[in-house]
Amino acid sequence: MYIPTEIEKILFSAEQIGERVNALGRELTRDYEGKNPLFLCILKGACVFFADIVRSIDCPLEFGFLRASSYEGTNSSGKVTLDLSAVPDIEGRDVVIVEDIVDTARTLSALKKHLLELNPRSVKVACLLDKPSRRVVEGFSADYTGFVIEDLFVVGYGLDCDQKFRNLPYIGIYKS
Ligand code: IMP
Repeated sequence: MYIPTEIEKILFSAEQIGERVNALGRELTRDYEGKNPLFLCILKGACVFFADIVRSIDCPLEFGFLRASSYEGTNSSGKVTLDLSAVPDIEGRDVVIVEDIVDTARTLSALKKHLLELNPRSVKVACLLDKPSRRVVEGFSADYTGFVIEDLFVVGYGLDCDQKFRNLPYIGIYKS
């Protein structure tokens, strides 16, 4: 298995991630059956999680993509940039935002606030990882969470450090 020297330790193996994603998929199938939800992938970090979770959901759904960024290297810049040009009309729709990780929650709270102004029927958040100890936006939590982790910088399974390591099939702790 390819383990770059920058990886200190594997936190979740591909098998552990697969099992957890399938369990989330079963929950989402149960909650969204008959609603034709719109699943929004936050590029680029959530693309691997998105590809897996939508394939573990056994009911009709649609895709949308948007870009959000707030990180520079291993630090949150505090400034959230959103590009929603590839998001279809969400008025009256049940929307599920798919995100890789909730850290300060600045990105998701800004995005959710913006989407709610567009009159969707509902907006929920599915995230693979949650770092609650890093929260800046008090009280923010995802509706569906894969794993809760400590204050660690992690890469792999879509997550990067300066655009690297997104292709690792596992989630590893980055050596800082
Ligand atoms: P927030 O707005 O601070 O919650 O930041 C969320 C975004 O920061 C995520 O979508 C990631 O792109 C990035 N991020 C936060 N923590 C990590 C990490 O441990 N590894 C890689 N990216 C991270």
